Amino acid sequence: MTTGAALLQVRDLTVRFGGLTAVHEVSFDVGAGELLGIIGPNGAGKTTIFNAIAGACRPSSGTIRIDGATVAGRPPEKVARLGIARTFQSVRLFRAMTVAENVTLSAVLVCRSMGAARAQASEVMALLDLESSRDKEVDALPLADQKRVEIARALALKPKVLLLDEMMSGLNPEETRDIIGLIRQLNDRGLAVIVIEHVIQVINELSHRVLVLDHGVLIARGRPQEVMSDPRVVEAYLGRSGSRTSGESA
Ligand SMILES: Nc1ncnc2c1ncn2[C@@H]1O[C@H](COP(=O)(O)OP(=O)(O)OP(=O)(O)O)[C@@H](O)[C@H]1O
Ligand SMILES: [Mg+2]
Repeated sequence: MTTGAALLQVRDLTVRFGGLTAVHEVSFDVGAGELLGIIGPNGAGKTTIFNAIAGACRPSSGTIRIDGATVAGRPPEKVARLGIARTFQSVRLFRAMTVAENVTLSAVLVCRSMGAARAQASEVMALLDLESSRDKEVDALPLADQKRVEIARALALKPKVLLLDEMMSGLNPEETRDIIGLIRQLNDRGLAVIVIEHVIQVINELSHRVLVLDHGVLIARGRPQEVMSDPRVVEAYLGRSGSRTSGESA
């Protein structure tokens, strides 16, 4: 999918927790149909950017807009209705409920009736090959399927932008392949996606553009190959001992 006009606009985003500046004056755009990667060492501020976009934390300053509408400072349900959906670094599902119940509960947020929510959930489960698991409790599923349910819950919101936070952590290479294929497929259908990922190969394969964060500051941006050979990135991310460069989980 080629990139289009700016759909999501982040300007001078700063997030402070007490004396710690987790994100410092970060600005970027995401075009319609774009697949943007975000990388950076542990604690760089990647998840905090998602939290700010998705309404889980209030920015200290800066603006976030989707299709021109202000996002920053709104509660998560409102942000979801504006077209932004996210998955979490650690799977967060209603574990004692079935797959169908989990996905339907999410769809309820944007549907006018229970019937419409069920129909929407069915459509999303079909897309994600979850139909055979629809009546299983989430707790009984392997991690890779639980991650699919997380994506299904996000897609049930019919988002314009999907935020995926370290989707590949804990998955084996074959499961990782499957999720990469799925993300591509969603992006090919026109969905804008932002992927936070420690597995550089995944970022290289998927992203049209990459942002590199270090200590809350954007230190590089550009096409994956350009960014990975930038000396500041090599120093800050790839070269520093203790940074993760493969699929270890946080
Ligand atoms: N709710 C919070 N309260 C206080 N400090 C926080 C909070 N959330 C994040 N932080 C701090 O902000 C910084 C950035 O954290 P963040 O989770 O955004 O990093 P990250 O880049 O996602 O790291 P990782 O790769 O380990 O997931 C860290 O120093 C973290 O401890
Ligand atoms: Mg994180």
